[in-house]
Amino acid sequence: MNNDILKTLYSKEDIQDACRRLGQQITSDYKGKKPIVIGVLKGAIFFMTDVVREMDVYIDIDFIDVSSYHGGTASSGSIELVKDVELDVKGRDVIFMEDIIDTGRTLKYLEDLLAERGAKSIKVCTLMDKPEGRVVDAKADYVGLEVPNEFVVGYGLDYKGMYRNLPYVGVLKPEVYSDK
Ligand code: PRP
Ligand code: MN
Ligand code: MG
Repeated sequence: MNNDILKTLYSKEDIQDACRRLGQQITSDYKGKKPIVIGVLKGAIFFMTDVVREMDVYIDIDFIDVSSYHGGTASSGSIELVKDVELDVKGRDVIFMEDIIDTGRTLKYLEDLLAERGAKSIKVCTLMDKPEGRVVDAKADYVGLEVPNEFVVGYGLDYKGMYRNLPYVGVLKPEVYSDK
């Protein structure tokens, strides 16, 4: 698996530093509150578990799953709700955890959905932001790292379901796209 990687974009240490910084920021912003931290499956699970352990805040945890990429490298444009949250978000402070914001479609869909349900506040925390990929207007409140307009894998991010368990973020060798 590691052999399929052309170059590392962010090391394990880079990611750890980003998680620590975000966790501290969220801690000071949510003093006295009890937000629901919602992980966006599946990509956000590694990032979410790392960030919440850097937070000194009472939280609830939930998960939501929407799909847009359908396993490939390009966003399909249509968002589908695959798994809903279990908690009632009405009147609650919500923090979405994402691994990456690219076109912004996923985030826009999620924010609209929870705003409609009467969430008190909605913030978004993402490990990576790819501003050049933006198609709709969507902005993360907490950003760990910026990425260029390249397809990246690792630390939650997949190509055809693979590479999520890499402990770093990297770029695949071009030949990998054709034969897996
Ligand atoms: C990826 C990624 C983000 C979203 C970002 O998830 O994890 O959730 O796409 O893309 P966007 O800004 O263009 O909407 P994906 O739908 O591939 O599901 P996954 O997390 O299960 O891989
Ligand atoms: Mn995702
Ligand atoms: Mg994906």
